[in-house]
Amino acid sequence: MILNSLDLLNFKKYTEKSFKFDEGLVGIIGKNGSGKSTIFEAILFALYGELKNKGSKELIRNSSVSEKEPVSVSLEFEFDGLTYKVVREFRGKALSANAKFYKNEELITTGAKEVTNSIVKLVKMSKDAFMHTLFASQKELTSLSNLKPEDRKKIIRKLLGLEKIDAIESMLTEKSRGLKREIDAFREVLLSIDEIVAKERAIKAHNENKTQINATLIEIQL
Ligand SMILES: Nc1ncnc2c1ncn2[C@@H]1O[C@H](COP(=O)(O)OP(=O)(O)OP(=O)(O)O)[C@@H](O)[C@H]1O
Ligand SMILES: [Mg+2]
Repeated sequence: MILNSLDLLNFKKYTEKSFKFDEGLVGIIGKNGSGKSTIFEAILFALYGELKNKGSKELIRNSSVSEKEPVSVSLEFEFDGLTYKVVREFRGKALSANAKFYKNEELITTGAKEVTNSIVKLVKMSKDAFMHTLFASQKELTSLSNLKPEDRKKIIRKLLGLEKIDAIESMLTEKSRGLKREIDAFREVLLSIDEIVAKERAIKAHNENKTQINATLIEIQL
């Protein structure tokens, strides 16, 4: 996913602001409280934002504007060579949520939930997966530097969403140990190659003996 631009209207501290993300690596620099984290929140909100209760909706509206003013976040991005735009907004006293999703300027989905579903389907990532891989919050990163190396390793693996793989790995190790124990137990009662050859010879000799006895019996009966 390549971000092209972000347009904010009454979103937190931004009453009206447009950001263009040029090609290459983009750095965001600013004083404390200048609105750096808000840009990331707005990106996350554009992609996955469905604010459930009125309280959280109130928090995202710029505190200096009236309830009549809409809150809107619009994000344009490229994915698999196509250009997409997601627009989310809250309107009216009830702050009813609406969203629109465009693919190459053509409206493809409307409705807050529907747009979130479309985005999850397109990028094949849930909000949790997105946050664990591409998106590390400031708090998580700051706490990293204060940790012991093994704890830092744990957090980084969690950030990368690898803890599930770790759990599967230890489950498989445990399973393979169990199987090895079973194989060892079977090995004790299994015969060696020499023993098998000796037994086969004994069976063959026994069968030959049986055929001879049967032949003798038939002779006697005749
Ligand atoms: N609803 C709102 N209306 C107006 N201003 C808001 C609203 N919500 C948050 N703010 C302001 O936004 C600022 C915080 O912005 P943000 O957290 O993005 O800053 P930052 O650049 O990440 O700061 P830091 O460097 O400390 O992490 C605060 O000054 C806060 O008062
Ligand atoms: Mg911040």
